[in-house]
Amino acid sequence: MLGIIPVRENMFWIGMNDHETDLFESIWPLPRGVSYNSFLVRGEKIAVIDAVKSNFIAAYTDKIRALLPPGGSVDYLIVNHMEPDHSGALKAMRGIFPDMKIVGNKKTAEFIRDFYGIADNVISVDDGSSLDLGGFKLKFFLTPMVHWPETMVTYEETQKVLFSCDAFGGFGALDNRIFDDESDLVYFENEILRYYSNIVGRYSNMVQRAIDKLKDLEIAVIAPSHGPIWRKNPAHIIALYDRWSRHETEEGVVLVYASMYGNTCRMMEAISQSLAEEKMEKVRVHDISRSHVSFVLVDIWRFRGMILGSPTYNTKLFPPMQSLVHILENEEVRNRFIGVFGSYSWSKGAVNALHEFACCGRLTLVEPVVEAKCAPTAADLEQCRLLGKNMAQMVRR
Ligand SMILES: Cc1cc2nc3c(=O)[nH]c(=O)nc-3n(C[C@H](O)[C@H](O)[C@H](O)COP(=O)(O)O)c2cc1C
Ligand SMILES: [Fe+2]
Ligand SMILES: [Fe+2]
Repeated sequence: MLGIIPVRENMFWIGMNDHETDLFESIWPLPRGVSYNSFLVRGEKIAVIDAVKSNFIAAYTDKIRALLPPGGSVDYLIVNHMEPDHSGALKAMRGIFPDMKIVGNKKTAEFIRDFYGIADNVISVDDGSSLDLGGFKLKFFLTPMVHWPETMVTYEETQKVLFSCDAFGGFGALDNRIFDDESDLVYFENEILRYYSNIVGRYSNMVQRAIDKLKDLEIAVIAPSHGPIWRKNPAHIIALYDRWSRHETEEGVVLVYASMYGNTCRMMEAISQSLAEEKMEKVRVHDISRSHVSFVLVDIWRFRGMILGSPTYNTKLFPPMQSLVHILENEEVRNRFIGVFGSYSWSKGAVNALHEFACCGRLTLVEPVVEAKCAPTAADLEQCRLLGKNMAQMVRR
């Protein structure tokens, strides 16, 4: 049947590709969609691992039915994570398969009760406990805060498949090429980093803990709940997540600025010019009013240097820059060099706010801090050039 793809014998991808949602979590753009990967494991007992968003319930349950023996039902729904992009179909599924047991941990059970009003036939598993399906054996590992408190992963022991839910996942619909060896990985790696930096990044410490917890498992396939299934090179996606969650960066600089009338923009140009003179190859410039923060975060997560510039707006940062800084604070972005610049005309605000953020203790400030009054003077622009030069030297070290 269309949209059912074998991962192993009697183990199927039954996920849905979402090309309709414009904004994931109502904030992150999805120019090429997203997949909600769901899996059906057909042992003597039948388990579905992670479900999909509620609006796909009809097509989704058609796929499940196509894999059931005549008169058969789903025995277990394994809920690795309660975010509604995966658990949305849960209530309808219980209606269709009334005897289906729902498997999660203690925290999952609490959320199932409070989101969906379901408390019966919910099985609570502990860290390291197993569920024998007959022919397949599922083992559960709690990985709290990757990305909600109840998050866990499910490992199928006989085939060595790790159903890792949000961990190791990324944006981008799969459109029938679900495996790493048949995907455009250049495209997907960027979408995976976008997913990581937008959604998971704040929980980098917990990702590290999860990687450490799973390090002794023999893994043949990593099957996350979004993005490609890694059967050729599962170590690659673990290595990427490991690097990102350690805040390891590449040589390069992201220059993010805002400007209403071009004065702060001229300061950005002077910095960018000096970065070019320093032969800094990887420089990404974003006008924060026009680049969606989702894409700005990818570059900030990737590169060792960031330079933020803003005019003063009603005594504060320009609002889109304020929003970026708020997100970076919330994500506790660290281990990067930061430069700041900006302008005011009658009452300062923007540069102070950026400077305060730069001194949060997680970042290393690169001097000089440049602040222009009204239009930047030749001396201001010279300071901007110096900032670019110093930044280039720091990120090269
Ligand atoms: C809506 C608005 C609010 C502003 N608020 C302040 C302010 O609180 N303090 C200040 O010194 N300048 C303020 N300014 C003046 C800006 O500093 C000035 O417009 C400057 O040119 C902005 O830099 P830009 O040319 O890069 O946009 C404000 C300007 C606008 C349009
Ligand atoms: Fe999630
Ligand atoms: Fe998710």
